[in-house]
Amino acid sequence: MASSVRDLCLSLPDPVEDQIFALMARFQSAKKRHSDGTLSKEPFTLGVGKFINSEGKTPVLKSVRTALEDQLSKRIKDEPSGGYLPIVGAPAFRAALEELVLGKDLADRVREEGALGSCQALGGTGGNFVQASFLKILGVKSIALSNPTWGNHKKIFPFAGLAISSYPYFDSSRAEITYDEMRKTISSLEPGSAISFHGCCHNPTGADLTPEQWKELCEDVKARDLVTVFDVAYAGFAKGLAEDLFSVRHFVEQKVPTLVAFSFSKIASLYEERIGSCLVALPEGYSTSAKVLGVLESIQRPTISNPPALVSRAITQVLTDSTLRADWERELSQMAEEIRHGGRLLARELEKVGVPHGGIEARKGMFAMLPFSPEQVKVLEEEEQVYMLPNGRINVAAVKEHNVVELAARMKRI
Ligand code: LMR
Repeated sequence: MASSVRDLCLSLPDPVEDQIFALMARFQSAKKRHSDGTLSKEPFTLGVGKFINSEGKTPVLKSVRTALEDQLSKRIKDEPSGGYLPIVGAPAFRAALEELVLGKDLADRVREEGALGSCQALGGTGGNFVQASFLKILGVKSIALSNPTWGNHKKIFPFAGLAISSYPYFDSSRAEITYDEMRKTISSLEPGSAISFHGCCHNPTGADLTPEQWKELCEDVKARDLVTVFDVAYAGFAKGLAEDLFSVRHFVEQKVPTLVAFSFSKIASLYEERIGSCLVALPEGYSTSAKVLGVLESIQRPTISNPPALVSRAITQVLTDSTLRADWERELSQMAEEIRHGGRLLARELEKVGVPHGGIEARKGMFAMLPFSPEQVKVLEEEEQVYMLPNGRINVAAVKEHNVVELAARMKRI
């Protein structure tokens, strides 16, 4: 017998909190209690992956502000007049994005010889959602995720109906990448399945592969006939845009079917604006750009219909105006330097007080993994008011000259 609507409603799942957003909420509530005097210790967060300057703020970059002001003022004057963007986003945004991710020559080559398509998406997560849906339409049944990975990966791919498995990436006790074990697992993946890789600085451990390792992995992936999925939200936070995009470009150059989720949240400091994309590059003889675009449209139309215009026009302006582009790249490398400085400061201070830190000074980008147990992380939060993810992932961008001594002293006490 069919269930009644009441029964269906009664069997709705219990709420499951999202680790990162729940952590942010606990920190905000602690901050409020500290400011109204009911919590004596000042809370610090090393939680969410967000750039913070020395005043504790997530700034609007000057280059981005100029473009946003321009675009807002044009929009208010109704030029261009309002309406809807195409389902996959404006052609100018997509072209600029494709050339940013692949470089102009490679983008042109794939357009000419293979199939290249992209769509504007709602941040990096939106890009991941489009990737997952694309894989589903492609008929891919499963995807291997790095262990550890970003918590949301484990939600997004199953949400689209894909089975997930994992490959070992990092051993916290040795504080190193488990490269051989990873290759062994990849060599046993089902042909025709997908593998997800973190772009530069994206892995929660902050530990990145070398170009030589990427080249070997690319051969492994080709040998297994896998679809490669990259998540790229931090390009530019290690050595610079082109070098940080090496892995993605290499896989595409080597004619591996590749799907890239790309986000401007971190690198353009536009977190709440949700501007990102999904790019699909297929080798010669696999499909056509028209078909790829058609599939991207078939995902976007029933989900977001068409993407938001204002912020994509601003990003297009930053990417295509040579002055703004140079300003943005300079601001990006300044953020990168400040993040590196935070990692070095914390490593030095933890060494001084004798707390093992797992080599965090060698990590790339915002993230590093402190070798703390979930129990220690809990004590750190509850007794010392320092907030981080249970696996010890921290955002070193939040470490500054003025808070590092206090942070290390609190870590020493657990
Ligand atoms: C993070 O991992 O801290 C960020 O990517 C925030 C998010 O969207 O989960």
